[in-house]
Amino acid sequence: MRHPLQRGKWKKPKEPAQVISGRVAGGSVGWYRQVMPKIRCFECSRCKATVSAETPQTVCPTCAGAFYVRYKLNGLCGLQHREQIARDGAADGWAGMWRYRSVLPEAEPVTLGEGWTPAIGSKRYPSVVVKEEGANPTGSFKARGLALAVTMAKHYGLKKLAVPSAGNAAGALAAYAAAAGIEANIFMPRDVPFANYVEAKMYGANVTLVDGLISDCGRMVAEQKEKNGWFDISTLKEPFRIEGKKTMGYELVEQLGWEYPKAVFYPTGGGVGLIGMWKAFAELEELGWVAPGKRPKMIAVQSAGCAPVTRVFDQHEKVSTMWENAATFASGLRVPKPYGDYIMLEILKESDGVALAFSDQVILSSLRDWAKNEGIFLSPEGAAATAAYDHLLKAGFLQASDRVVLFNTGAGLKYTDVTAEAAGIERPV
Ligand SMILES: Cc1ncc(COP(=O)(O)O)c(C=O)c1O
Ligand SMILES: [Zn+2]
Repeated sequence: MRHPLQRGKWKKPKEPAQVISGRVAGGSVGWYRQVMPKIRCFECSRCKATVSAETPQTVCPTCAGAFYVRYKLNGLCGLQHREQIARDGAADGWAGMWRYRSVLPEAEPVTLGEGWTPAIGSKRYPSVVVKEEGANPTGSFKARGLALAVTMAKHYGLKKLAVPSAGNAAGALAAYAAAAGIEANIFMPRDVPFANYVEAKMYGANVTLVDGLISDCGRMVAEQKEKNGWFDISTLKEPFRIEGKKTMGYELVEQLGWEYPKAVFYPTGGGVGLIGMWKAFAELEELGWVAPGKRPKMIAVQSAGCAPVTRVFDQHEKVSTMWENAATFASGLRVPKPYGDYIMLEILKESDGVALAFSDQVILSSLRDWAKNEGIFLSPEGAAATAAYDHLLKAGFLQASDRVVLFNTGAGLKYTDVTAEAAGIERPV
């Protein structure tokens, strides 16, 4: 949204130096050089089986677990490589999330200017930073994951993609598919925020509105993909959306001076961001870019109208059950049975984090509070995170001096219809 990016020439990295050049935003003559790592394999998040990345993959053939992308990162260890990112960033203008191309797969980026979003300090809470993901193209953090997934789809020569979506992933897929010249087939609930429908139509995607939830949309994609030759890029059913989302982890750590915050608040639906950021922290430590220490507590935030992760976290079980009759104006959180629940639960435990859910009323009141008192128009999902911060501060789980990052995962302006309805705002006649 905010960043015009001049798309530039990309050169295939030359062996062995793997140097690429491209034009980036922020200056018409900005050229950058970076090293992109080779993918070693895909590794199953559940049974640890490995599979070659030579051809596109969906989930683990043995256990249907989600795949992680594993690289040969050993040439990048040490602080000099970390410093190079900042130097290249400063010298070459604005490269967005591709400033981390040294830890992203070797492929020509399909980019619309995603990432490197503002980390805004709160006026009222000196230790709070809001990561403003609404600044991404298509107005949400989904741009990061879909930029990477479409980049790799193009790299593999895939021609037709399909996705079930709660709304913002649909808009993001439609945009990146349009940029790549790839067909996008989108299934989303009929009652998504209107912006999600309009953007997908304008980008030229094939849109099916479904009387149901993302889980129903997922079933329809699964039923139709084979006969139509679609590649399914559902959340966690292909390995690269995690890679795009992991840049949020690199970014928040770099923006905090290469240090971990005490806690990260993440509005959780399918959980790709949570999983991606945790992967980023593991890589940062493996690379020696951040001292292994106390990683942030990961706080998964949901709406009380659809809180399968919170419920299973409270029950101390290992996998969630389907949340019946999911309903909330935080449409991105309407994911009744997240595919990666088992990974999220491990992360919450390992990080000493928690999962929390708040009513739409509490979310709306936090949304109003931040708009009026900070000038930040949060998405309902982002307002769930601010509500969670208030709650954990009051409960003594966090101190006012603890540095925390709250994710506003989407622009409030994408939700004017649903937020106006929730707030009872009507245009005066
Ligand atoms: C604005 C917003 N926040 C949060 C989420 C949840 O994201 P994830 O499914 O990666 O947990 C979504 C998903 O659609 C979203 O659109
Ligand atoms: Zn497996």
